[in-house]
Amino acid sequence: DELDIELDPNSPDAQHLRSAAEQLRTSDIPVAFPTETVYGLGADATRSSATKGIYKAKQRPADNPLIVHFASLEQLRNLLRSPTDAPDTDPIPPIYKPLITKFWPGPLTLILPNPPHSPLAPEVTAGLSTFGARMPRHPLALALIREAAVPIAAPSANASTKPSPTAAEHVAYDLDGRIETILDGGPCDVGVESTVVDGLSSPPLILRPGGISLEQLRECEGWERTEVGYRDVSEKGVAPRAPGMKYRHYAPKATVVLFESGRRAPGWGDLVGSLREGRKVGVVRTRRWVFDGQGEEGPVKLVEGKAVARANGVEKVAKGFEGMLQAVHKQHVQRSVETHEVANGDEKFTLLDIDLGGDTADIARGVFAALRDMDRLDVDAIFVEGIGEEEGDVAAAVMNRLRKAAEVKVAA
Ligand code: TXA
Ligand code: MG
Repeated sequence: DELDIELDPNSPDAQHLRSAAEQLRTSDIPVAFPTETVYGLGADATRSSATKGIYKAKQRPADNPLIVHFASLEQLRNLLRSPTDAPDTDPIPPIYKPLITKFWPGPLTLILPNPPHSPLAPEVTAGLSTFGARMPRHPLALALIREAAVPIAAPSANASTKPSPTAAEHVAYDLDGRIETILDGGPCDVGVESTVVDGLSSPPLILRPGGISLEQLRECEGWERTEVGYRDVSEKGVAPRAPGMKYRHYAPKATVVLFESGRRAPGWGDLVGSLREGRKVGVVRTRRWVFDGQGEEGPVKLVEGKAVARANGVEKVAKGFEGMLQAVHKQHVQRSVETHEVANGDEKFTLLDIDLGGDTADIARGVFAALRDMDRLDVDAIFVEGIGEEEGDVAAAVMNRLRKAAEVKVAA
């Protein structure tokens, strides 16, 4: 159940890793590290003072429990096993066996009973009798947890309410001055958080959609009747809502206007109606929208187009790890922001355009970064093209995050 990680012990990469692990064991300032889903903000899950450091750095409400990350099944079993258990009994509930075999290490979090005399700090479970366990598949995450030799509590490494971080620069942007170390493992392969499942209830439930789909879960023995246990605000068939009504999560500064899948691209009236002073509007499009100079509802014309350079130049980030990360980097999506000066008669405004492409996995990898790019470019509003959820991939997770980020939703 472990990946083999080869790292020259004398290399700077190995030294960064050892020092990050040492910080996890001894410091109360959390360490940011990459996982295949999103970057995590890690702390020793067995020390209260360390886990409190997470809530402080993120400014996260204390009633939201943390996921505990393990590098091996043995590490998880050691935590679950009671001193009176025979050493050869397996304390992991049998319902989870097929899932662990199929999806670990990977983007799946299992809800487990927190054992009596649990070593987990109470802040990790936020008062619940259960805890979430996950074995990430990012080699750097596994190496770090193994080196720290303690279970690592880690939420996403964004400031609370902001889009989750899928690159080291995102973490630095949100948490600069609040943490000391970010291990840079490159862009995240999945791009949305892990699926959280509860197999202790009957039927089993998905508590949060993520990198593993409902369809994938239902293929596993004992999970055929899995149901959706989260409340998603798809509001299909409902007219656009007034802004400011939603609990904000995954949200950039700009107003997000989400068009459910099947809606045609916004026209001139939609775009210009959303502008305040800045006269800048962002479009994040996926499968069908085209901005080719012909707005569907009006004379939107692209009079100029140029690529904007990505913001860069983060300090304090431990770069490197190239050797061990080649396989991870392969999946990186090249995403650029196109700037267009758009004219409608005498009026001009700036349209910033990000095309995430048609592939769901690419959309998932790029969606949080796209929202962050738009924020840095100071747009007034971001129009997002939603995707359909029928395909049994990560589309449900993407739409779940976008619906939470959106202040205005346009029904299909
Ligand atoms: O992909 C991920 O899961 C990332 C990376 C860093 O591993 N982590 C992450 O953590 O997304 P966070 O804290 O942002 O989200 C944890 C989610 C929350 O929705 C929380 O309510 C739920 O897991 N959760 C944690 N423990 C739980 C429990 N005992 N019962 C029910 N839900 C739980
Ligand atoms: Mg989060």
